[in-house]
Amino acid sequence: MPEIGRRLLPVLGHSGGGRDAMTCRYRCGNACDHPVPNRSENPYLGDVVNASMSRRGVMRAGAAGALVLGLSGTVTASAGPALADQKPGKPGQPATPGKAGPLKFKPIPPNTLDNLVIPNGYDHSIVMRWGDPVVPGAPEFDLAKQSAAAQAQQFGYNNDFVGVLPFGDGDRALLVVNHEYTNENLMFPGYTSLDALTVEQIRISMAAHGMSVVEIERVGRTGEWRPAGGHRLRYNKRITGSTTPFRFTGPAAGSALLRTAADPKGTTPIGTLNNCAGGVTPWGTVLSGEENFNQYFVGGDQAPEALKPSLARYGITTTARYPSDSRKWERAQERFDLAKHPNEAHRFGWIVEVDPFDPDAPPRKHTALGRFKHEGANVIVARNGRVVAYMGDDERFDYLYKFVSDKKYLPGDSAVARRHNLTLLESGTLYAAKVTGDSPAAEIDGTGKLPADGAFDGSGTWIKLVSGNTSYVPGMTAAEVLTFTRLAGDKVGATKMDRPEDVQPSLKTGKIYAAMTNNTNRGVGTYPGVDEANPRPANKHGQIFEIVEDRGDHTGTSFTWSLPIVCGDPADASTYFGGYDKTAVSPISCPDNVAFDSAGNLWISTDGNALGSNDGLFATAIEGSERGHLKQFLTVPRGAETCGPFITGDDRSVFVAVQHPGEITGASVDNPASTWPDGDYAKPAVVVTWRLDGGPIGS
Ligand code: FEO
Ligand code: CA
Ligand code: CA
Repeated sequence: MPEIGRRLLPVLGHSGGGRDAMTCRYRCGNACDHPVPNRSENPYLGDVVNASMSRRGVMRAGAAGALVLGLSGTVTASAGPALADQKPGKPGQPATPGKAGPLKFKPIPPNTLDNLVIPNGYDHSIVMRWGDPVVPGAPEFDLAKQSAAAQAQQFGYNNDFVGVLPFGDGDRALLVVNHEYTNENLMFPGYTSLDALTVEQIRISMAAHGMSVVEIERVGRTGEWRPAGGHRLRYNKRITGSTTPFRFTGPAAGSALLRTAADPKGTTPIGTLNNCAGGVTPWGTVLSGEENFNQYFVGGDQAPEALKPSLARYGITTTARYPSDSRKWERAQERFDLAKHPNEAHRFGWIVEVDPFDPDAPPRKHTALGRFKHEGANVIVARNGRVVAYMGDDERFDYLYKFVSDKKYLPGDSAVARRHNLTLLESGTLYAAKVTGDSPAAEIDGTGKLPADGAFDGSGTWIKLVSGNTSYVPGMTAAEVLTFTRLAGDKVGATKMDRPEDVQPSLKTGKIYAAMTNNTNRGVGTYPGVDEANPRPANKHGQIFEIVEDRGDHTGTSFTWSLPIVCGDPADASTYFGGYDKTAVSPISCPDNVAFDSAGNLWISTDGNALGSNDGLFATAIEGSERGHLKQFLTVPRGAETCGPFITGDDRSVFVAVQHPGEITGASVDNPASTWPDGDYAKPAVVVTWRLDGGPIGS
């Protein structure tokens, strides 16, 4: 059993899915308790089908308890198209070729231990935890004497996205991490309420948001990594929610909608907020999604009337001066009061690009990729050389998007190529997805039973919203489409999905995988009902959505889709695992982030397990006879969510971010619900896991 230093709190009420109410409060401002922001009458897929029916502390599995799942089978890794040029890493300095193959690890069972549980034959260590020094000279973390100045030099709170960008020798890399949000209950001893926080404490929270860049080094010849020492650490830096200047790029940069009193040119926003998932680009930068930014603003009731509908569409309260769940940040920075600075909200909700190899370059917010509750963005280089970014808007009944660059990717790491590639996301075309099922609506009966053709599947189109300064949405300018992208999606009839989270192309096959995490409002009351792409009402467990671009052209406007995995307990008849024997797969709930190893196996992390287990990381083959043979690789401690994940290009290490450990209603620093990772109180941390024999992860 794990060592538990003190008695832990019982798990109290959960809200929406399996997520604890405290997570709902701090992470997304109780989004599930608010009305769904998308009340557009844009037809949902069910309507479309009905209208056109004729159309188509190391704890290993051995110690965690008996295992009842089946053992591994064999996988034949398919030889995919030559996309190896896109291995994450510094261009021109390819990582050691990957060695992943069939998934042979013995899955771990679901559990509720307050520990990180990994399979036999693996080990793990903490790479960075909340408060660890990042910037050279940063003070050591002192919980009792924390200051905003110290936090701005230390690892932030609630790590989410993890990217690892290697240097050429393969033994050093830059770890780039998002810090999505803070939980003041679990950060400040003696916490009573947000109203009682000092302004300095609010500034600490602001500084604990943002991103970190940390140079790391391999330990010996193993798959373990640790913070680099003995260098000048010139790349290490913090980006915060409150102090870091950004630069807007793209067609909406400088537009009237982005101008404020502090930035009359509308070009230089300060800080990044609620950075959730992200991606590593082929040119060696990191993309990061600004997600639930709405909760940081007050005063929406006094914003200009003309702005209220768009503010509300983004989940900002426009009926009260102080929403009950606001973060009180206006006490520290007036700009968070929309009564005084109504355009400030428009300066969040973008895709951020950070070049970790150029510590002096200001991070950018790319307006060409639109503004919504960006989960993240992942890029693939299309056959014609343009780059395509796939993106989800994480809200119930919101949309999937893609961006196609105007310019073409230049391979290599010459200064000319790098300078060119850094501009790829500054101009292009933005599309929203419209999805159609190919089975009769009567066969989508809400039980999860497959329709007669044997699959939840169909076709789709990418609807052009805006290209450069040309808007394709009636009544909206290009700047309006980019700033109010949700409204543009409503107008063109994009398809309402079950919370699109991480969307990532497989570099092995070119197919795209999107995690639809859940949607407990689907088919409830007056909310849109089930459709072939979102086939279960009150969807607690989510599904994986696979996109195959027609003719393999990522820049095209038509695709086919299917659901390879419909999540939940395999014993539940409404689940589906690619047709694989369901008695041999691990239960999974609320898929959130996806990743691939070099063999193209799909790795899925979860957020808010509604089956009673801790969240975890899973892996499955996605091609061949093993498609759908999902196995659980690890679980995170109590109250935590599994974020990242990131599998290094050599397949020897998997990084995960353990986000919000101990985030269980009633917990505090003084009375923690988790004592991971140090045995005292809970701290979010990035973990690396590797195989003891040095072999490829999972294989
Ligand atoms: Fe921050 Fe969509 O999860
Ligand atoms: Ca079908
Ligand atoms: Ca997420």
